[in-house]
Amino acid sequence: MTDKPGAAIAGTGSYIPEKVLSNFDLMKLVDTSDEWITVRTGIKERHIAGEGETTASMAVTASERALEDAGVRAEQIDAIICATITPEMPLPATACFIQDKLGAEQAAAFDIAAACSGFIYGLEISKMFIESGRYEHVLLVGSETLSRITDYQDRTTCILFGDGAGTAVLKASNDRQEGIIYTNLKSDGHKWDMLQLPGCGSRYPASQEVLDKRMQYMKIQGRAIYKFAVNSMQELIVDAMKKCDLSVDDVKMVVPHQVNRRIIDSAMGKLGFPAEKVYINIDRCGNTSSASVPIALDEARREGKLVAGDTIIMVAFGGGLTWGSAVVKL
Ligand SMILES: CC(C)(COP(=O)(O)OP(=O)(O)OC[C@H]1O[C@@H](n2cnc3c(N)ncnc32)[C@H](O)[C@@H]1OP(=O)(O)O)[C@@H](O)C(=O)NCCC(=O)NCCS
Repeated sequence: MTDKPGAAIAGTGSYIPEKVLSNFDLMKLVDTSDEWITVRTGIKERHIAGEGETTASMAVTASERALEDAGVRAEQIDAIICATITPEMPLPATACFIQDKLGAEQAAAFDIAAACSGFIYGLEISKMFIESGRYEHVLLVGSETLSRITDYQDRTTCILFGDGAGTAVLKASNDRQEGIIYTNLKSDGHKWDMLQLPGCGSRYPASQEVLDKRMQYMKIQGRAIYKFAVNSMQELIVDAMKKCDLSVDDVKMVVPHQVNRRIIDSAMGKLGFPAEKVYINIDRCGNTSSASVPIALDEARREGKLVAGDTIIMVAFGGGLTWGSAVVKL
């Protein structure tokens, strides 16, 4: 017997901006087609932040929804962790803007940068905070305004990304029937250049040259990332199932990073997961980086596809390189 509390998901929330950028809209900007994008990625449209919408504003709406879902008041939150690669500004942390708007007076607040794996990294951090007994409630956010770092002159990247925010409220729980059972985080910084935004950091501070070379936008090696994503997704799921002694039947749903429909189908097909056990919203949302897993999780719960007692596996991978998984009993 141990008194150590577990960390459980008490509630979720998400926000997707109203403004839609369809494949047909992109055809007016770059040399592409609805057919090419649909076949290669599964994306039909993505949502883009409107004027005045930012990473923090979307995060606040998603967080208010998550707090309501959890029945937790903002003042009860002990820590706010925001995973993002598109912070409100470099200083201060986006989490501080969220803390202020929510009125989370007791909360510590900081950001983490683990690209598309950010929410999974945040789950492990939240788990450790809660299991140590230090914190009772953690608000974990993934929020991205990728449209502001996307080059709409580059057809190889601009078709992929969308904006949005997803939040989970984690709580201390002594109920052994629920909680984060397992997390696994990985990285390989040697391959940092496979997915990068080179400009406006300490290596290439903002300058006219940086802007002229369009270094303020994301650059990706799509083909290489494709192979990495299929492999890491399979490896993460096999590892999680092995470590937690789970069969396909035991897993209600895999909630994967919405990277590319073909990548997800290829990995899940090889692992023997039927389509109804994989949550997909990439057709509507595109890739929203750290927001992708929590938005998908929230949608699956609100659609009634996931209920208390279900065991899920979340997986994500992206820039860094970073990748990771989490097994949760809801
Ligand atoms: C980007 C991605 C969709 C490209 O699909 P792909 O099947 O690998 O396609 P390729 O990059 O090999 O390009 C094939 C051809 O289509 C062309 N092409 C690229 N983008 C295009 C577009 N938007 N419309 C039409 N043609 C396009 C290429 O120029 C290339 O032409 P070529 O054969 O004449 O050289 C795919 O690689 C992918 O999803 N990668 C991972 C995405 C990623 O990194 N996400 C972020 C990390 S989480």
